[in-house]
Amino acid sequence: MALGSLLILSITVTLIPLIISSRRRQRESEEPITVPGHPIFGHLPGMIRHGTTYPVLLGQANDHPPIYAISIFGQRIYTVSSPDLASIVMRKQKHLDTETQFIITVFQNMLGADKSAMKLLLSSTKPAAKKARTPFREEMRSIEHKLLASGEPMQEFYETMVTDVSQRIGPSGFDNSNTAVPLLKLLEEVLIAAAGTALYGKKNPLVANPSLGRDYWLYDSQMSLFLLNFLPRYTVSEAFKARERLVAAFSDYHVHGGQEDMSDIVRGRSEVARRYGCSDDYLGRSEVELLNGLLSNMVPTVFWMLVHTLLDPALAERVSTEVESFVQELDPDTLSIAPGKIRTGCPVLVATYQETLRLYSSSARAYQVMEDFMLADDCLLRKNSIITIPAETIHRNPKNWGNDALEFNVERWFKPDRTLNSSAWVPFGGGSSICPGRFFVFDMILSTVIVVLHSYDLSAPGIQQPPGRKTRVMSGIRIPTEDIDVIAKQKEQKNVRKWVFERNSTKAT
Ligand code: HEM
Repeated sequence: MALGSLLILSITVTLIPLIISSRRRQRESEEPITVPGHPIFGHLPGMIRHGTTYPVLLGQANDHPPIYAISIFGQRIYTVSSPDLASIVMRKQKHLDTETQFIITVFQNMLGADKSAMKLLLSSTKPAAKKARTPFREEMRSIEHKLLASGEPMQEFYETMVTDVSQRIGPSGFDNSNTAVPLLKLLEEVLIAAAGTALYGKKNPLVANPSLGRDYWLYDSQMSLFLLNFLPRYTVSEAFKARERLVAAFSDYHVHGGQEDMSDIVRGRSEVARRYGCSDDYLGRSEVELLNGLLSNMVPTVFWMLVHTLLDPALAERVSTEVESFVQELDPDTLSIAPGKIRTGCPVLVATYQETLRLYSSSARAYQVMEDFMLADDCLLRKNSIITIPAETIHRNPKNWGNDALEFNVERWFKPDRTLNSSAWVPFGGGSSICPGRFFVFDMILSTVIVVLHSYDLSAPGIQQPPGRKTRVMSGIRIPTEDIDVIAKQKEQKNVRKWVFERNSTKAT
């Protein structure tokens, strides 16, 4: 070999590692910081113990970096805690697989969908290619967004459900005695029955067989274990049987003529599923999914709103004054609510709702990065890593909400200098995967709370503080560590037989 060639070779050999290491250094410096922690003795037990709160704790321990990474056996998991970066992530979804992990977690692990259903739901390329949704998913999402929009599409459903709540809540426990009733349990019982009537009409399986309501809440309570998907038939056998009883009952409902008076949302979803050849079994599982979206979030939200209101006399007073003047008495037996005017008529109650979702929402959808890309000028995300935007890391971050970020303070929603970036409040997720029920549930939750607070004076003797927040995987809202006992006294003059609702007053809020 000529001397010249040898020289070039030796220079090249000397330089290659330098080039590689300088490129690596440069790229590494653009990547989000990796927070310290041992994969086996630190991160894994931390994730098992704290669930979706674990990234929040890591953020706190590291002065809330806008985005940070942990590494477990070479797998990088990024957590975003800055609203600005979160909204960029939502816009850059073409670099991300937003579907695969979600579909496997929800439809396979949580609902137990079979292979033929999973084929319709999952993109054939892994990770899902840019057009991530299958045609079936795409149509299902679009019908959900259309039918769950606030206003006309859901008016009948809304009216039936709120009326049903008003009629059930007394007989179910708010019976005007001095006997304290467990609030969460009562809400679970009343709201699942009311939801059943509103969603499924007269042939509602939940009325035909009330033990299905208990089955639903048993299943819901074991959700985290279902998601692990470690032989659930044996590891969570009672909850597994409960889920299968629900599936069988709702499959049967679809087979044996629930059609007549089912709600538009149930009809619309089942028509899409039938058109794509889904089985009766899938239709049953799909109803469990719908109940999950509605109840597993609505019940704890109503619970936390009532608990914070009744434990804070000043807040209770302000909310009660608002509710009293908001509800119109049409005659001694009939009261009226105008759902479309709640935002202007009940600002303190609305702030209570927003603050509840800020402090108790716990969603954390995970996306897979499909190719290296720059999230921002100095932020490189690596192919095959996972990125999550847990609501809690954004909602409980003092850099986004001030030093009292962990306190329940409705006043923050009235501050004139509030420079709140709207993406600092993300209880419903964001981007193309945002919750389709987010508008409708505003009317539903606030009207339910209005009906309860207009009808009853609530107290919780001996209780000073709200209960703790229980960690759950894949839940939109935290549930309490324990229920609280509440005494409900019917307000004197309220001998109401009927609630009516001002039509055309609901609008997307
Ligand atoms: C306080 C109430 C609610 C909260 C906090 C909530 C939260 C969420 C969140 C965080 C997601 C995931 C979004 C994402 O990953 O980007 C979601 C999805 C979903 N929600 Fe809600 N939700 C609520 C009420 C409802 C209601 C009332 C319904 C229906 C009646 C509903 C139906 C759904 C459905 C079907 C999905 C799945 C969408 C998909 O398939 O991609 N949600 N919700």
